[in-house]
Amino acid sequence: MKSTSRLNISGVNVWRAAVACAWGLALALGFALAVAFAETRKGRAAPRVLKRGRIVYRANCARCHGGDGKGWSALGEKLGVPNLTDAVWQSRRDDARLRKSVAGGLGNMPPFAGKLTRAEIAAAVAYVRTLKKPPE
Ligand code: HEC
Repeated sequence: MKSTSRLNISGVNVWRAAVACAWGLALALGFALAVAFAETRKGRAAPRVLKRGRIVYRANCARCHGGDGKGWSALGEKLGVPNLTDAVWQSRRDDARLRKSVAGGLGNMPPFAGKLTRAEIAAAVAYVRTLKKPPE
């Protein structure tokens, strides 16, 4: 009788340990996911957004900025486009500023607010961020 109850107690303890383990694992997984999500937000946009941004960029922006974003074309030079791949140039402007410039237009760049949705503009700007290269 006594030994059975002891067995039960140890059985309960094993079960408790398993539950604690599961909680620990769930917490660790949650933490890892949160970090991964934060990284995505801080660094690169989600692949789905970038794919869309690439399509928007190729269709609407590449003629002035070039497929690679450097803008080394006759039209790009004539209009005075910045080198979008320049890491230093990029670091001086946040996403909100770039979205605003694209939506409202800037200098020789026409406004895109009536042509593209906000999501399309945001995706194009997110794609522009991926064109960043270290200085040559
Ligand atoms: C008609 C040519 C033209 C097209 C098309 C064009 N741009 Fe531009 N873009 C320019 C010029 C010129 C500038 C420089 C404006 C200035 O600084 O006076 C510029 C500047 C920018 C900047 C920098 C804005 C800032 O705040 O410094 C970004 C980002 C940009 N363009 C992204 C885009 C995207 C994304 C598209 C497509 C949706 C696009 N451009 C389409 C000509 C163009």
